[in-house]
Amino acid sequence: MSEEFQFSRRVQSVRPSPTLAIAARAGELRRQGKDIASLSVGEPDFPVPAHVAQAIEAALRKGATRYTPSAGLPELREAICAFTRTEAKLDATPAQVQATAGAKQALYNACQALLDEGDEAVIPNPYWVSYPDMVKLAGAIPVELKMSAANGWQPTGAALASVMTEKTRVVILGSPSNPTGAVWSAAALREVADVLARYPRAIVLSDDIYSKLVYGGVRAPALLEVAPELQPRTVIIHGCSKSYAMTGLRLGWAVGPKAIIAAMNKVQDSSTSNPSSLSQHAAIAALTGPQEPVEAMRVSFEKRRDFMLDLFSRVPGVRAGKPDGAFYVFADVSSALGRSHQGEKVGGTVRLSEILLETFGVAVVPGSAFGAEGFLRLSFATSEDEIRRGVERLAAGLASFT
Ligand SMILES: Cc1ncc(COP(=O)(O)O)c(C=O)c1O
Repeated sequence: MSEEFQFSRRVQSVRPSPTLAIAARAGELRRQGKDIASLSVGEPDFPVPAHVAQAIEAALRKGATRYTPSAGLPELREAICAFTRTEAKLDATPAQVQATAGAKQALYNACQALLDEGDEAVIPNPYWVSYPDMVKLAGAIPVELKMSAANGWQPTGAALASVMTEKTRVVILGSPSNPTGAVWSAAALREVADVLARYPRAIVLSDDIYSKLVYGGVRAPALLEVAPELQPRTVIIHGCSKSYAMTGLRLGWAVGPKAIIAAMNKVQDSSTSNPSSLSQHAAIAALTGPQEPVEAMRVSFEKRRDFMLDLFSRVPGVRAGKPDGAFYVFADVSSALGRSHQGEKVGGTVRLSEILLETFGVAVVPGSAFGAEGFLRLSFATSEDEIRRGVERLAAGLASFT
């Protein structure tokens, strides 16, 4: 018997996550016994640092399994303040911190606290897939700040000025970027800040989740270091997922003006309450303990990035710029589009990715998932062997197009 349900307009406005759909299909094929090389992962393939694992065990033994304050344990919020001072050049107090179930929830809480029906939220394009949907789930309208490969995916003041309006309530910035791997320069951030000066109502959400994953001696300039005047209206989003290989532990945070954090606390109080108590203890250990494991992971990502780029330099039809951060190569494969595979003309990267997965056994993420048709996102957060197999299959796939 089939039943018809009436879903909310907000839920109807969002699509199922395309990245999760690819991961699910790749998993299904693997379960059927197919050999799949995955370049679609969005998480480090390392275990949590040993001292973090020990802290979880110790917390469990001590019985730290009860509710904590909704915004997180005071010791954790202190540790986040210290981290933010170094990473983002922001002096904050624990009342300006909300610990959350992953950076994703921090962004979600901010959207719920700040956006109303009809408000506009500027998101960078190419965007992380969840930004537009979070904006829509808050009833607001995502408006895209277009960037281009031609200038290394840097935002420009002119592009931002062309999309800002009196209705812009939130501007989401993110460097290093998922999916492009671009690290935005201080000059680009300055241009952005100069435009924002004309829109004092707009609140900035600075998604710094990849700030520690930068390569080749590059440092990701912090927005508030370049534009300290934005401090009264900037919320920094960060977390343990990417830097400390803690994706499954779900521990992120927001640091910002007290009044905005208080409003976000209302959202969290009435939805999830505190993030997992054990994950909070894990995060305290990660932030206050030895940082060598983070550096070791960064060094290994840098090697894998160079390895992947070297392989791509020998693949015709792929233009892969060098990412300075995160763990993705955002490769231009537009030369394959409009050509044919086994008599079928392939017009977009969704279909191209399906063919690569189903026929050639490599999982990649289509650029259209990030609002940028003609590109594929290829993750190097995996072993060199997996990278080699993945790139070989991608090359074979593209070579089969006529
Ligand atoms: C740009 C960006 N922001 C936020 C997140 C969410 O991180 P978390 O796992 O902490 O929710 C991700 C994860 O893929 C991301 O790529």
